[in-house]
Amino acid sequence: MKSNKKVAVLSSGGDAPGMNAAIRAVVRKGIYHNLIVYGVFHGFEGLIRGDIQEMKVGSVADIVHRGGTILKTARSDEMFTIEGQQKAANQLLERGIEALIVIGGDGSYRGAQTLAELGIKVVGIPGTIDNDIVGTDQTIGFDTAVNTVVDAVSKLRDTATSHERAFIVEVMGRNCGDIALRSGLAIGAESILIPEIPFNLEEIGEKLLRGYRRGKHHSIIIVSEGSGDIKEISTKLKEYSGFDSRVTILGHIQRGGAPSASDSVLGATMGGKAVEVLLEGKSEVMISYINNDIIDRPLDLAFGPRPPFNPELYNLANELAI
Ligand code: F6P
Repeated sequence: MKSNKKVAVLSSGGDAPGMNAAIRAVVRKGIYHNLIVYGVFHGFEGLIRGDIQEMKVGSVADIVHRGGTILKTARSDEMFTIEGQQKAANQLLERGIEALIVIGGDGSYRGAQTLAELGIKVVGIPGTIDNDIVGTDQTIGFDTAVNTVVDAVSKLRDTATSHERAFIVEVMGRNCGDIALRSGLAIGAESILIPEIPFNLEEIGEKLLRGYRRGKHHSIIIVSEGSGDIKEISTKLKEYSGFDSRVTILGHIQRGGAPSASDSVLGATMGGKAVEVLLEGKSEVMISYINNDIIDRPLDLAFGPRPPFNPELYNLANELAI
């Protein structure tokens, strides 16, 4: 891609801490290399209605440390229709914008893929707290969300200890148990329930009883949202162990807050790499973090099956919570 070419960036799907660092990197690295960079506001919804503005160096000042996304985000039903996709592509083509960088999850990548078929160069940057995108070891926002869970659970633990209770804490992640697994391991949870591994509530109840007999009078159980109804889980555990528990659903606080240093760096490096691959003339690629390296890979990798779940961390967490 040559100087003065026009590129655009948007964020889509659930917001994630570190998205702003990625947006800043796209805008500033693009301008540094003489590209004209546009921000698309409100995700694909905004693209369809032409909510597009040129970004200057100052447009991304003072955002690197902020959670959320200055471009706003949305989940767009219209982008699933052929008319919506054509309108979105036309908004870019009419302005002479050749390429679009999409920061979001695999649903957002699918939107990008349809635009590629309509003549737009596209690059995907994995931004979601869920860490559920095939083809990258980590997504922007995941590390911060895990730290948020750890912080929240350390507060709950004070109450769990004082009242000698069990706390069952639901965390986000859709069908991916990574937030639960990482945070559960970090806080030394008694049990971690994730969608990837079947669990037996009777055994978990017995584990609680074993701990109680050993003098442990509080416990924390982390449940990934894709593992089932947390209220039912609590009722069953009471049945099997006799313990009263309190249920806490952490919800959207996991999506907010300042990004961790790790997510800011991931956002900056991925944003920078996205501009680099466009300058090299590539399209239909995603930016990936693999073995400590930032690389580009084919976008459709993200649409393939998830690799088999590696149970190493899960097994370790169980071994440590005997
Ligand atoms: O994909 C991010 C995520 O926060 C998921 O963990 C959660 O299931 C979902 O989005 C919640 O979506 P919404 O913000 O639309 O309620």
